[in-house]
Amino acid sequence: MAYNLLKGKRGIIFGALNDQSIAWKVALKAHEEGAKFTLTNTPVALRMGEMDELSKVTGAEIIPADATDVDQLEELVSKSMEILGGKIDFILHSIGMSPNVRKGLTYDKLNYDYYHKTLDISALSFHKVLLVCRKLDAITEWGSVVALSYVAAQRTLYGYNDMADAKSLLESIARSFGYIYGRDKKIRVNTISQSPTMTTAGSGVKGIDRLLDFSERMSPLGNASADDCANYCVVMFSDLTRKVTMQNLFHDGGFSSMGMSLRAMDQYDKSFNDCVGD
Ligand SMILES: NC(=O)c1ccc[n+]([C@@H]2O[C@H](COP(=O)([O-])OP(=O)(O)OC[C@H]3O[C@@H](n4cnc5c(N)ncnc54)[C@H](O)[C@@H]3O)[C@@H](O)[C@H]2O)c1
Repeated sequence: MAYNLLKGKRGIIFGALNDQSIAWKVALKAHEEGAKFTLTNTPVALRMGEMDELSKVTGAEIIPADATDVDQLEELVSKSMEILGGKIDFILHSIGMSPNVRKGLTYDKLNYDYYHKTLDISALSFHKVLLVCRKLDAITEWGSVVALSYVAAQRTLYGYNDMADAKSLLESIARSFGYIYGRDKKIRVNTISQSPTMTTAGSGVKGIDRLLDFSERMSPLGNASADDCANYCVVMFSDLTRKVTMQNLFHDGGFSSMGMSLRAMDQYDKSFNDCVGD
């Protein structure tokens, strides 16, 4: 059911790679809610070809940009304003990648060039997007910028590796830029801390199946899906959340406030019983 929450709004959506991507679901929802937007991803991601399908369904133009490259971001933001016919009301930053995770290098054996890349792609790119938008005065008053984060920014989760550091930095950038952008232009900057979700980036996390099962058992409402996340993003882009800024908003079925649940304890008991006699 659509509510026209984004009727007449213009946006830029980063990070839709395939139909599992959270950004993909956000694009579908934003379209359903009446928004016009451009889609962007790296030239490599575009060559994979799946984004054309999303572009057709939503009527959104695709503009290639590497989010770590300020010049390409300037081009993207300028073109988006041109295509959409005015300043931007909302931006989704849905970007994450760790070469260390990809290469299986653990946190105590990080490659520092890769580490820089992780931070640049997954966190600094958010600063760059905000900086470029501010320089071009590209976002409307009461506009809303959202980046996607994960609870590993606050708590250590096995296997999340240097992405945990990237997410901490991402959330800090949302606060620091949120202050400046809010003070000067009444623009909101927030992060949404999403449940583990089976996507291309998600499946790179060590033991993702078990992590999904664990957080499902620990969360009173169960894991939040990519579709649920899209709904939350739309609310954050809408005028209904005008005074929410500089926040890290947990969207995780309650996981982040839990210590132990009955469902997790039951499972723990089972495995404990399995070991008896070993
Ligand atoms: N999947 C999860 O479990 C989960 C949980 C919490 C938060 N998140 C976050 O959600 C966001 C989206 O991830 P997803 O799970 O939808 O996976 P995904 O793999 O579909 O999306 C990641 C996107 O980042 C893009 N990207 C990588 N390098 C880039 C660059 N240099 N410039 C521009 N784009 C680049 C990729 O092309 C891809 O589209 C990420 O920030 C991720 O960390 C994911």
